[in-house]
Amino acid sequence: MKILAIETSCDETALALVDVDISSDHVSANLIQSEIFSQIDIHKEFGGVFPAVAKREHARHAPLLLKKMLASRDITSIKDPKTTDTTNQDTPNTIDTPTQTDPYLWATLEELLVREPGLFEATKDILLTYRKPDIDRIAVTAGPGLEPALWVGINFAKALSLFWNIPLIATNHMKGHIFAVLLNKQKIEFPALAFLMSGGHTELVRMNSLHHFEILGKTKDDAIGESYDKVARMLGFEYPGGPKIAQLAQEARTAGARSGDIILPRPMIHTQDLDFSFSGLKTSVLYKIRDLTQSGATPLSEELKLNIAHEFEEAVTDIILHKITRALQTFPARTLVISGGVIANTYLRSRITERAEQLGITLLLPKIEDSTDNAQMIAVAGAIESLNTSMTETSEIRASGNLSY
Ligand code: KG4
Ligand code: ZN
Repeated sequence: MKILAIETSCDETALALVDVDISSDHVSANLIQSEIFSQIDIHKEFGGVFPAVAKREHARHAPLLLKKMLASRDITSIKDPKTTDTTNQDTPNTIDTPTQTDPYLWATLEELLVREPGLFEATKDILLTYRKPDIDRIAVTAGPGLEPALWVGINFAKALSLFWNIPLIATNHMKGHIFAVLLNKQKIEFPALAFLMSGGHTELVRMNSLHHFEILGKTKDDAIGESYDKVARMLGFEYPGGPKIAQLAQEARTAGARSGDIILPRPMIHTQDLDFSFSGLKTSVLYKIRDLTQSGATPLSEELKLNIAHEFEEAVTDIILHKITRALQTFPARTLVISGGVIANTYLRSRITERAEQLGITLLLPKIEDSTDNAQMIAVAGAIESLNTSMTETSEIRASGNLSY
């Protein structure tokens, strides 16, 4: 099943084309093409993601990415990668004479896209220029995320689905993160424990099948990625701060930093539940910076920044390892899946890998490039969703900021 996926839940506009071989007990995904526009540089000046700006940028970039995909040969003629088939090599991707399209259809598309300035015109231009792609389904993120941003992707996807007459599937962004591991030629054995850590979510999820999700525990306040971003900001670094804190912590380790030079708490680490709290940890960093700088009277030295980043990451790692261990003791599983943008962090990857080996459980991680937001994970989640018999009608698909499983 060839799926074109669209992701606009936060600050990445992403489109991907994935060939998913799927049955009720087997999924194998082969990425054909992935296009992404990161809005990070635009949001940096706001210190976080600003929904109205995200919405405007998605509307500007989604058609540009689609045009890029349609202009490449992959989408009009997807060949079996195992063969050297050259069929359709000479067929142009563009249409010589645009077909006369029903004015009612254009009016419907205009109504869908008119709220974003320029989106209808840009989309119409593409639809009149390029051939209908060789795809079976379109998948789009319906939530969770920023609703104004989600709506852009949904309406854009609805327009393509209507014009090309290709079924549309609504997908869940968090399921996308979990299923990103399937792009790595891995198999999830059930029951599985999934741990999601992103900018908006921190949750432990038990899976009994590809369609059954039960949240075992989650953060009571900040998500892990959010706490990395907030601590980075306190240290004077731009959004998103996760990679910067990770880099400083690594430099501190290389320089021989010891846990104990700076001491931070590990909130909720010993509670009997599987919940988390990171806002207290962030506040402790704030107080520590105040003490060390005499309330801003003296600047924080580079060495102290390294030590704070290091101790913060050690605290986060300790909490994560404890909660994963507790979850597996309480709910034994055959596979441990770790997903979400924060698992782009190589230190966390190595510490979790070590712990999984000690616990004797198979660990599945997404590739680093599939860890942060992307559309290939949405395509895989869409293919899995398509097995579900009670799929939402295209016209009923809506953005849902708090969408759960
Ligand atoms: O999953 P994601 O791309 O977007 C959401 O769905 O939220 O996650 C983004 C989060 C940000 O908070 C970012 O700072 C964090 O992931 N992140 C990292 C690293 N790379 C991204 N956190 C720690 N270490 C990293 N290397
Ligand atoms: Zn995400």
